[in-house]
Amino acid sequence: MVPTMGNLHDGHVELVRRAKTDCDVVVTTLFVNPLQFGENEDLESYPRTFEADCRILETLGVETLFCPTTETMYPRGHTLQTATIVPELGNTLCGENRPGHFDGVTTVVTKLFNLVQPDKAYFGEKDWQQLAIIRKLVFDLNFPIDTIGVATVRTHDNLALSSRNQYLSESERRLAPQLYRQLCSVRDSIQAGNTDYSSEEEKAMNALSALGFRPDYVGVRDADTLDYPRGNSDNLRIFGAAYLGRARLIDNVPVGLA
Ligand code: PAJ
Repeated sequence: MVPTMGNLHDGHVELVRRAKTDCDVVVTTLFVNPLQFGENEDLESYPRTFEADCRILETLGVETLFCPTTETMYPRGHTLQTATIVPELGNTLCGENRPGHFDGVTTVVTKLFNLVQPDKAYFGEKDWQQLAIIRKLVFDLNFPIDTIGVATVRTHDNLALSSRNQYLSESERRLAPQLYRQLCSVRDSIQAGNTDYSSEEEKAMNALSALGFRPDYVGVRDADTLDYPRGNSDNLRIFGAAYLGRARLIDNVPVGLA
């Protein structure tokens, strides 16, 4: 199973390709989930390209596309919907400025898991926090599902592909790969032995602001628990989120400590 919100790009395609390689039957789901959008977020304007998505999935040989309506997913409305909540992991990083977002994600993914009953589910590393949260959901609630993470697909200039990149103007688009570059400089500095993580985070935030972003956070965290690094953790990842114009961009890079 490959859950998506549609408007498929090469990032989604990579997930489907991996699934096609591993599995006999692939189900892609397409549902723009209102439960995971905040009040002032882009639910209404989120790009919907159903016909083009169907063509892409046909070309990839996907057997089944499940694209339920909101009424099918939330027949009694979504305000009193029973929810699955992954504590702690969902309140940090993106969760801090998007309250309820990950509760919306885990709730819809729980419902989709129950409806589709997949053996394997594919998620992108671009949304690393989402992937970590789904892994915990699957473990804590004993879903008999393998959660598989797929590496981030980028443009030639290293911008992580995202449906929200369409919101960028031409000049913003040229600037956008700087988010990745700033995360890479934090990585390089840590790999060179720097352990003053908060000053590295601050430097990257300042650099992003100076470039014209409105940074939300840059954080060095444990890759699995998303906790602040403790002692000599050897499993670090650097996370960043920043607004550029009306687009909210996110990215993350691993720290390789040899
Ligand atoms: P959506 O943003 O459509 O993404 C669907 C899947 O594609 C997610 O697992 C995401 O991490 C992955 N993806 C997006 N861009 C990628 C890229 N550049 N490289 C690799 N993978 C990428 O994420 C969601 O939808 C929703 O929250 C969902 C899980 C479907 C629940 O509603």
